[in-house]
Amino acid sequence: MLYFDNNAILLLKNHINEYVNKNRAIFILCDNHTETDCLPVLQNYISATFIDEVISIPSGEKNKSIEMAVYLWQRLLDKNADKNTVLICLGGGMICDLGGFVAATFKRGIDYVYIPTSLMAQIDAAVGGKTAINLNNVKNSIGLFTQPNSIYTIPYFLQTLPEKEILSGFAEMLKHGLIADKIYWEKLIQIKDISQITDTELIKKSIDIKTAISNTDPYDVGERRKLNFGHTIGHALEAFALSLTYPISHGEAVAWGMITELHISCQKKLINEKECLSIVNVLQHFFPSFSIQEDYAVILSYLQNDKKNANDKLNFTLLNSIGHAVINQQVNQNEIINALEKL
Ligand SMILES: NC(=O)c1ccc[n+]([C@@H]2O[C@H](COP(=O)([O-])OP(=O)(O)OC[C@H]3O[C@@H](n4cnc5c(N)ncnc54)[C@H](O)[C@@H]3O)[C@@H](O)[C@H]2O)c1
Repeated sequence: MLYFDNNAILLLKNHINEYVNKNRAIFILCDNHTETDCLPVLQNYISATFIDEVISIPSGEKNKSIEMAVYLWQRLLDKNADKNTVLICLGGGMICDLGGFVAATFKRGIDYVYIPTSLMAQIDAAVGGKTAINLNNVKNSIGLFTQPNSIYTIPYFLQTLPEKEILSGFAEMLKHGLIADKIYWEKLIQIKDISQITDTELIKKSIDIKTAISNTDPYDVGERRKLNFGHTIGHALEAFALSLTYPISHGEAVAWGMITELHISCQKKLINEKECLSIVNVLQHFFPSFSIQEDYAVILSYLQNDKKNANDKLNFTLLNSIGHAVINQQVNQNEIINALEKL
């Protein structure tokens, strides 16, 4: 169940009271930023005596790792977490993906709750039941489809989110418009100022698009692949940047992935050049250029590991026109390099 608005914190308070009345232990997982900026907000509503353990880990995508999962399983064991424990994941997509994965696998699964605090997590990562960790920088290689008990999406938390992270979430909002809703896309491209991005109506629309698509295909075998637009190249760029210890945000990677995949869509004559360039112009306005010297061989090697591939074929979601994505497109290496050269 997803509760969305600033009053959701009151519902959360009631649910925590219910857990406490049933003698259930409450553990909170956060990172060093959400510990400073978000945990005190939560503690205004939830008595400190109700929280049995706060586990704070360093922020950053490199910590969405097997080593961190092992550390967290061990911490849960050391603190006597059992099937009655509830893990509250208070953070961005990194904390939700990692915390959900750890909770769903610990003792064959304990209850967990998401309080997504980044725009990316509110409109995307917390929705749809995918959890994962990266392995050798390859994004989301190990993971599960599993649902949290509930999701409390509280826009108030975005007040402390840095602008770079707001923009990161905005990339996925733009993607939602591109793959599913032309009217939404047209609203988004009117945005002139970063503060307009976190408008609650816009956030709600993105949550609705992500929810509707993932509900039609919870296990990602068909329709849901539309959400992968920008992600095949995007994940390879993100992995490449992580390997150079020059991390880029997930949204930047997806934006540059969308630009590259638009050029591929154009090469394949799925989208006409005029429409392609008009979208690329919008994306480049918000996400000017990929700032790392590209190494095509390394990027292609990450693409080979993409979990959407089957039978050695690189599988992409491309765009026909604004609002219409097309799944299961096979793309060859030349088409990819030609498009990367335009980044
Ligand atoms: N499971 C899914 O369906 C799904 C969908 C989209 C993205 N993701 C994953 O989500 C991750 C990206 O999420 P993200 O962009 O939220 O990254 P993130 O969790 O690393 O958060 C970005 C930064 O913002 C900070 N932060 C978060 N909330 C804050 C707040 N309210 N105030 C101040 N700082 C705050 C974090 O500490 C971090 O430094 C990636 O691992 C991506 O693969 C998963």
